[in-house]
Amino acid sequence: GGGERTSESAEEESGPLRLGHSGEPLYTTLGGHPVSDDNNSVTIGESGILSFEDLHLFEKNAHFNRERIPERVVHAKGAGAHGYFEVTHDVTDLCKASLFKEVGKKTPVFARFSTVSGESGFPDTARDPRGFALKFYTEDGNWDMVGNNTPVFFVRDAMKFPDFIHSQKRNPQTHMKDPNAFWDFLSLVPESLHQVLILFSPRGVPDGFRHMHGYGSHTFKWINKEGKAHWVKFHFISDQGIKNLTHERAVELAGINPDYATEDLFQNIQNGNGPSWTFKVQVMPLEDAPSYRWDPFDLTKVWPHKDYPLREVGKLKFDRNVTNYFAEVEQASFSPAHMVPGIEASPDRVLQARLFAYDDAGRYRLGANHLQIPINQCPFAKVQNYSRDGLMTVTDNGGGKPNYYPNSFEDLPRPDASQPDVHPYKHEGGIVSRKALRKWSEQDDYEQPRALWQQMSKEDQEQTAKNIAGHIQGAKDMIIQRQMGVFRRCDPTLAQKVEEMLAVKKKSQEPYTMVA
Ligand code: HEM
Repeated sequence: GGGERTSESAEEESGPLRLGHSGEPLYTTLGGHPVSDDNNSVTIGESGILSFEDLHLFEKNAHFNRERIPERVVHAKGAGAHGYFEVTHDVTDLCKASLFKEVGKKTPVFARFSTVSGESGFPDTARDPRGFALKFYTEDGNWDMVGNNTPVFFVRDAMKFPDFIHSQKRNPQTHMKDPNAFWDFLSLVPESLHQVLILFSPRGVPDGFRHMHGYGSHTFKWINKEGKAHWVKFHFISDQGIKNLTHERAVELAGINPDYATEDLFQNIQNGNGPSWTFKVQVMPLEDAPSYRWDPFDLTKVWPHKDYPLREVGKLKFDRNVTNYFAEVEQASFSPAHMVPGIEASPDRVLQARLFAYDDAGRYRLGANHLQIPINQCPFAKVQNYSRDGLMTVTDNGGGKPNYYPNSFEDLPRPDASQPDVHPYKHEGGIVSRKALRKWSEQDDYEQPRALWQQMSKEDQEQTAKNIAGHIQGAKDMIIQRQMGVFRRCDPTLAQKVEEMLAVKKKSQEPYTMVA
């Protein structure tokens, strides 16, 4: 039940309780003044008006009025958990990051799993990608692996991201989800097709957060001790196995238990059955990139495993629930820019834009000092610099030490030229201009989605077509026809199956399904 106490650690965290004269824990105001009565306001006479002398009454209500902070603009609904990562296979030939230093090394990790387009109270069983965000607390600072449960994404350039998200969220007039906007955008941007097929396949509604894989999705760079680099893609394979919810079950759960995935994660950890994932990487030599059959930095593409097989790295295990949702989950701020020596970005232009977006969102949502919040601090890498002040400074703010650099004080922090910096590598460089990411053939948007469709089982194909039909039927005919053109170009049998399902839906007069 919701009122159950699941943790006794609050006392340990803040020291011994202050006691009142009765010997029982004392209730205080926000400033620590003793409270004698929490039921009755101070009034003038028994039935009289309130007195401004009642600090507790006004303070308690004023604080209540300020409880809400902006929710994440995307991925607002989510659940978090603590755990650790353990290296099981030596990858020091590929990556010098301290967390991979030796087999058996353990690194604390905080994770947040989420849906994308719904608000903070939205049903967990929505047909939507799932966020898969990990914060590794390492000796070189935090490594945030901010991925999804899909290896690709809807767009290959972040310029399209705000429009894409607008089209998936609420209509500016009705404030309702809008199937016209949803399919209008997607049908005009066929690079979305690969992710659209995954979204409407059975994997589009995982059975909770434990039964899905996680992906870094982008290509990243790993650098070893000798300075040799490789392009890599991160895969987190669920040890619980893949399990999905049917459309019908998802819709039902949205009504009876909108927090289905949140509860499933919490209860399993509480019962000592926390989930785990096996961390694997695909590795591409830098020399392969220019001649690979797809642009290896195109976020709408995967690297087939037969080209680049998975190599095992370690285990990710979650074994501890948060003690306070707001403090730990809501205030967690992940950023793909938080990388550690040995792990770097690739030229993927969506990743490049994300390097900016997340701390910017953190500063808006939590403030300029969002990284001072305990869940975002790395206990193993002390922060030492000359940035000071700002709203909600809660550290000693550098005390009395000088707040500028260069300075002539030997005992103050200074850059160390021997520390690793951006790994130099040759890129095509050349003219600065605005250009679409190079397509490798006319088939570029269609080839991988076609392969995905063709390797689905007959049953998965049926389900996918049915899920698409149930959703797209809410859109105008002109938009449906445009998207049908995209499906037909992918594979005529895909378009045909969706058309058949649409005819069935139309006959049955089932309404467009907003959730799943
Ligand atoms: C959350 C921007 C693409 C995964 C967010 C947030 C922003 C954002 C502003 C809210 C952050 C916060 O308030 O703390 C963008 C932009 C993208 C993009 C500009 C460019 C196309 C992606 C992709 C992935 C992804 C491709 C996965 C591969 C996530 C996750 C979260 C998130 C997991 C939630 C993090 C958490 O749990 O706190 N994104 N995003 N995003 N994004 Fe993205």
